[in-house]
Amino acid sequence: MRKNLISVFVLVIFLAASAMHCQAQDASAAPHLRKQGTAMQLIVDGKPFLALAGELGNNSATSLENMEPVWSKIVAGNLNTALIGISWAQFEPKEGKFDYTLVDGLIAKARENNLHIVFLWFASWKNGTSSYAPVWVKKDYQRFPRIQINNGSTVSISGPVELLSTLGSATRDADAAAFGALMRHIKEVDGTRHTVLMMQVENEVGVLRDTRDRSAAANRAFASHVPTELMQYLEAHKGTLAPELHEVWAANGYKASGTWEEVFGAGKPADMEIPIQTTSPPMDALEHQNSWQHLHWPSDEFFMAWSYARYIEKVVEAGKAGYDIPMYVNAWLQQPNHAWPGTYPSGGPLPQVHDIWRAGAPSVDILAPDLYLEYFDDLCERFTRNGNPLFIPETSNNPANAIIAAGKYNMIGFSPFGIDGNRPIDAEMAATYRLLAQLSPMILAHQGKDSMTAVRLDQGAAPTNIKLGNYTLTLTYTGRNAHLPPQARGQVVASPPPPSATPMPTEPPLQAAVILIAAGPDEYYFGGGGMRVDFTPNTPGPPNVGLGDVQEGKFVDGKWVVLRQLAGDDTAQGEILVLRPNTILRVTLYRYP
Ligand code: DGJ
Repeated sequence: MRKNLISVFVLVIFLAASAMHCQAQDASAAPHLRKQGTAMQLIVDGKPFLALAGELGNNSATSLENMEPVWSKIVAGNLNTALIGISWAQFEPKEGKFDYTLVDGLIAKARENNLHIVFLWFASWKNGTSSYAPVWVKKDYQRFPRIQINNGSTVSISGPVELLSTLGSATRDADAAAFGALMRHIKEVDGTRHTVLMMQVENEVGVLRDTRDRSAAANRAFASHVPTELMQYLEAHKGTLAPELHEVWAANGYKASGTWEEVFGAGKPADMEIPIQTTSPPMDALEHQNSWQHLHWPSDEFFMAWSYARYIEKVVEAGKAGYDIPMYVNAWLQQPNHAWPGTYPSGGPLPQVHDIWRAGAPSVDILAPDLYLEYFDDLCERFTRNGNPLFIPETSNNPANAIIAAGKYNMIGFSPFGIDGNRPIDAEMAATYRLLAQLSPMILAHQGKDSMTAVRLDQGAAPTNIKLGNYTLTLTYTGRNAHLPPQARGQVVASPPPPSATPMPTEPPLQAAVILIAAGPDEYYFGGGGMRVDFTPNTPGPPNVGLGDVQEGKFVDGKWVVLRQLAGDDTAQGEILVLRPNTILRVTLYRYP
C-alpha cells in the first residue's frame, strides 16, 4: 500500500514537472499557431494573442525618420501590432548585399512603444505587379523573365506594369535567398524577444490584364498534364474541396488526369482582351450584378494559382529555414467591377483556389483576405473553411466587423489599412480596440468553443434569437448611442413627428455589434453595445429569469475588475438589460417560478 502511494506521488511530481517544462518551453518558443477546439490561435510567449493591428501605407517605413510621428499615432489608436512593408529593393540593393538597418530600427522602435510587428515582404510581387523588385532584377529581363499577356506585347520593364514570371526559377531563388537572409537576421535579433509575430510573403499576387501568363514557357505548361501532386490532392480531399472548385471539376467529369483545359474546362481565348475593370460595358447590367459571384475561365485561374503557390512555397521554405514563425499570403478579392480573373489578380489565394494553394504551398500557414467589401460575414465564412485561420491584414475602420471577426470567426487579427495616413486616428475604432484588448482574455479562452459568438444588428432590423449556454438570448437593436427605452424609465412617450414632405437622404444603417460569451451555466460576458438582451431558459426549472449581478468592468492582467455594479435606473429597476456602446458587462442570472 505504502509502496503504491509512493509510486503515485512520484508519478504526480513527474507529470507536474513535465507540464511545467512544456509551459516553459512554450513561453520561450517562437510565435506559432496552436489549435484550440475549432480555432487556430497565434501563440506568443506561450499565450494566445489577439492582434489588434493596423497596416501602414506601403512606403511609410522606408526610413526611420519618416516613421517618427507614426509610432505615437499607432499607440493612440490602441493597436498592439503594426503591419509594416519591407521592400526587397531596399533590403538587397546589390545582389547578395543585405541592409538590415531599417529592420533593426523598426524592431527597436516597436519595442520602445510596446508594440508587435508583422512584416510584409514586398518582393517579387506587390498588387499583382513587381514594383518592389530590386533594380538589378528589373533590368535583367533575360535572367528574371516577365510574363506575357494576350495583348500581344511582353510586359515591358519600362511599361506601366512590371510582372515577373512565376516560371523564372532564378527569380524565385533570388527572392528566396533574400527572404531567407531576412528571416535568419530576425531570428538573431528577435528570436528570444518575439516582437515580430508573423510574416506576410509577397502582396496580393496574381496576373493582371489577362487570365494567365501566355509566354512560351507558360503555354507549354498549360498544355501539359495537371501535375500529379495536385490531382492526388484533389482526389484525397474530394469530400472537403471548396464547392466552387468542386463544381468545376465535377462539370468536366471528375477526370483523374489530363491537361488543365481537359480537367477544368476551356480557358479564355488568347485574343480576348481583359478590361481593367468589368464595369458595364462590356457587361450588361444583369451580368454586372451577378458576374462577380461566378468563376470565369477557371482553368486559367487554377493554373496560375498552382504556379504562384509552387513559387511561393520555395520562398516560404527558405524563410522558415531561417526562422520558423507563421507566414501568410493575402488576396485581392473578386468583386463587382473585378469579376473576371485579370481584373483581380488571377491566381491569388482567393477562396475558390484555396485547395490548390494548400496543395502547392503547404508551408503557408494562412490564406488571408484583404477585406474591404460589404459582404464581410460571407467572406469570413469562405476564408475559414477547412480550418483556415482568419487573419485580416487589410480592411477598413469598421468596429462592428472587428467585433464579429473576433467573436464569431475566431480571428487571429484585424488590421485596417493606412492607419498612418493624413486622417486622425479613427476614434470609434480606437474605442473598439480598447474594448477588445480588455476582453481579450475571455475571447481567447473561448475561441474555438461553442460558448462564444457575436451578433450584428442593423438599425431597424428585427430582434434575433441566439441559443448560447443554458439560455436563448433575444437581441434587439437599441442603437449605437443606446439608451434605455423611455417606457422603462417611467416616462411618457411623445408621439413621433409627422413624416417630412422631403425624404431625408438615405444613409447606411447604423450597426450595433456585440460579443456574447457564456462563461458558466448562469453567467455571461458581453462586449460591444447598442443592443438589449432578454433571456429564455433552455433547461428544466422555473420559467422566469432574473438579473443577478450586473457588472460593468474590464479585465486587468486577466482578472475581472468591476467598475460599476448596476441596478436601479441602469437596469430599468432590474427588468431590462441594455448593452451601451463599448462596454463590457458581466451578468449572472437566476430563475424563479
Ligand atoms: C491593397 C494593397 O495590398 C495595399 O498594399 C495597398 O496598395 C492598398 N490596396 C491601397 O488601397
